[in-house]
Amino acid sequence: MKYLLVAGARPNFMKIAPIYRAFSARGNGHSTVDVLLVHTGQHYSRNMSDDFFRDLGIPEPSINLEVGSGSHAAQTARIMLAFEPVCLEHRPDWVIVVGDVNSTLACALTARKLSIRVAHVEAGLRSRDMSMPEEINRICTDAISDLLFTTDTLAVENLRHEGVADGKIWFVGNTMIDTLRQQIGRALEQPLPDGLKPGEYAVLTLHRPANVDSPDRLAPIAGAINAIAQRIPVVFPVHPRTAARLNGIEWHPGIRMVEPMSYVPFLGLVARSRMVLTDSGGIQEETTVLGVPCLTVRPNTERPITCEIGTNVLVGTDPRRIVEEANSILDGKTRPGAIPEKWDGHAAERIVDVLVNEAGQDACLVSAGLRAL
Ligand code: UD1
Repeated sequence: MKYLLVAGARPNFMKIAPIYRAFSARGNGHSTVDVLLVHTGQHYSRNMSDDFFRDLGIPEPSINLEVGSGSHAAQTARIMLAFEPVCLEHRPDWVIVVGDVNSTLACALTARKLSIRVAHVEAGLRSRDMSMPEEINRICTDAISDLLFTTDTLAVENLRHEGVADGKIWFVGNTMIDTLRQQIGRALEQPLPDGLKPGEYAVLTLHRPANVDSPDRLAPIAGAINAIAQRIPVVFPVHPRTAARLNGIEWHPGIRMVEPMSYVPFLGLVARSRMVLTDSGGIQEETTVLGVPCLTVRPNTERPITCEIGTNVLVGTDPRRIVEEANSILDGKTRPGAIPEKWDGHAAERIVDVLVNEAGQDACLVSAGLRAL
């Protein structure tokens, strides 16, 4: 069996790494499993160098489509144009896509139209906000995938609600958390930025177009962060999209803007922080597992389980609410969180079990009832 395992944006690599390693472990001594890593090149920053892949325990992808940035249509189309010849040359049995970025949808669509089977890892997440490009990517990718691997039971319910056959849905857990569990030891050994002590700083990340693209949206959020920085230093690794939009806004000197960090040091920074403010998807999940309070600066989340049982609070973008919730955490009013089921470090093994043992034979795809490993 031949598999193409696709990643495009930086967080995709944390999700594919354990899958690649689980395949490698399974393939040891067997020539029947052939996995090729494909990087679409949607993200191309210099901190995605050799070290980045070595840190994650995977080789540098053998295929790089080098599509770079562009409008949604241009980027998606370029990925499709570049991925089609790869599929035709390698003729994989399966294309595996992860997450909800433009690369996810573009590669799923390309493969499906060539009658190559598609597996979507992190399926079924829904924000119900169609103004988010990621929501469109999620819905479309799930609609055309043959196998849907979910991180939680709410995602399973979403897919059922949309009429997806139970036989396609596998509740396996969260591969990004596999990576977190594998790397946390090293992450905690990383030095903190100068002068910072564990538990005595906050971390901020912002990159959603809805938050950063217009100064009318970004300025009030910055106002809230400035107020929080009066009480606690805030470390702010600035995403490239956001970097271009920071000028003209006044920032409190307690806010330390730094270059985007690579995964392991960033995990170490978050794990030892007092709280995180973010509009990222994945960080909501990582903070839940780390037990770090998280304020999500968005009106909605596709990851409600992190609010229901984890440490995440959806605070929206009203600066008063953001400051109020941050003050409450700084005053020690935090609630304990629990870790969602199957976020145990073994999701990738479950995925590879399904792909190798079950989905390897078409006949096994026909099954009744929801299957949870
Ligand atoms: C993308 C994903 C988003 C994900 C995020 C993770 C989509 C629709 N969005 O958003 O879901 O949370 O990645 O980071 O796929 N740029 C660089 N260097 C890079 C990449 C981008 O400088 O390596 C700059 C370019 O100016 C580019 C902009 O960042 O135009 C936005 O990049 P893009 O890949 O379009 O989307 P992200 O905002 O990164």
